[in-house]
Amino acid sequence: MRSDRVRHNRVRHEYTAITGDKLLYFPLWTGDMAQPNTGHLDTLLQHTGLDDFDPVTGAAAVALPSVRTSTVRFRDLEALEAAHAARARGERAVTYGRVGMETHAALEDVFCKLEGGERAFLASSGMAAITLTMMALLDAGDHVLVADCAYGPVRTLDSVVLSRFGVEVSYSRGNTAALEAQRRPNTRMLYVESPGSLLFEMLDLRALAEYAREHDLVMVVDNTWGSGYIYRPLELGADVSVVAGTKYVGGHSDLMLGAVIVKDSALAKRLSDNHYALGIAVSADDAWLALRGVRTLPIRMRECARNALRVCEFLASRSEVARIHHPAWPQDPGHELWKRDCTGSNGMLAVALKLDPAGARRFVNSLTLFGIGYSWGGFESLVQLVDPSSLKGHGYWAGDDHAIVRLHIGLESAGDLITDLAQALDAAKG
Ligand SMILES: Cc1ncc(COP(=O)(O)O)c(C=O)c1O
Repeated sequence: MRSDRVRHNRVRHEYTAITGDKLLYFPLWTGDMAQPNTGHLDTLLQHTGLDDFDPVTGAAAVALPSVRTSTVRFRDLEALEAAHAARARGERAVTYGRVGMETHAALEDVFCKLEGGERAFLASSGMAAITLTMMALLDAGDHVLVADCAYGPVRTLDSVVLSRFGVEVSYSRGNTAALEAQRRPNTRMLYVESPGSLLFEMLDLRALAEYAREHDLVMVVDNTWGSGYIYRPLELGADVSVVAGTKYVGGHSDLMLGAVIVKDSALAKRLSDNHYALGIAVSADDAWLALRGVRTLPIRMRECARNALRVCEFLASRSEVARIHHPAWPQDPGHELWKRDCTGSNGMLAVALKLDPAGARRFVNSLTLFGIGYSWGGFESLVQLVDPSSLKGHGYWAGDDHAIVRLHIGLESAGDLITDLAQALDAAKG
């Protein structure tokens, strides 16, 4: 399935200042056209995981079906033994239903293409993918450095599971100086997320990768924000990329999925053995839904990003707004790093509002087009009133008493979303 080695031409982003009051910055996706043996990711996403031609009729459906199975039949014992031997070598080989058949293999292929990896392992959620990574790549007695802006439930994984298995975790700002202050002789892993959860702090992945190499640490990046399309940590030097496919890859808020993607064969072998041993499995129907969803990832992300910039522009014009956290927004402190390392943006942003807690609640409750909910990356706009206690661990947080509201800007009309935000800000004044 993954024998066609196709390189991803990096998509250049350019900025065009559009005068007038509509849009200040507009990301242009100007990727090179396909060349022999290479392909733009937009093209690859449409030509990966198609159904094979029937050898007799020469016909095929376009989309691969959802191949559901609990076990696998073999033609003879030799075929079964060959599959076992391949799996023992760490190769993708199907010996039992948990591993998944063609639908799963096609989705793994998609994740490899998105992230520039060699092997992908699917899990039943983004959190399960994070758990698989930690359980597979750490031993009892190991220590992990975690950037304090990582997805909150990583701390729960630490306190509820890792601590019981003798793995120690330290949290610090995601820069080399802060991390170095926490490093120990038994530190084995550097775990980061960029841009970070809630406030979208951009980390310097290149510098962190160099630091990890210097100290022989496995560097893991939660790349759910970029989902391989607009940010490629493996190309920036990370060893492992973890993606919650629940978000932009699935894209329709109707499935749970995670993936762990690596280049290195030794890491792949460890992940393969642990993936099997831990019994991690994904339903063929969810894999199929993700394959279907990912075809439109490029246009969904572009549109969400474009809408988000328009919303930023509106928010910047309002006196209630103290700060906007969105790396593609020129005033964001991570904007230069974002321009250096990312090829686009998405619909995620956070806004610090000069509202007291009651005003912030009125603002959120007054929104009519934003669902109140935790997730993101789907077609729809969502809002989350961030609990200040969840920000305490983020060194990036200003620590003031502004209300922090996280928005996922979806595919609705940006004008309608702005009208909704405007009336909710007015209502917040009480
Ligand atoms: C950055 C990030 N990583 C991982 C996850 C976990 O994904 P899932 O909900 O599929 O477990 C989330 C979920 O919100 C997330 O925001």
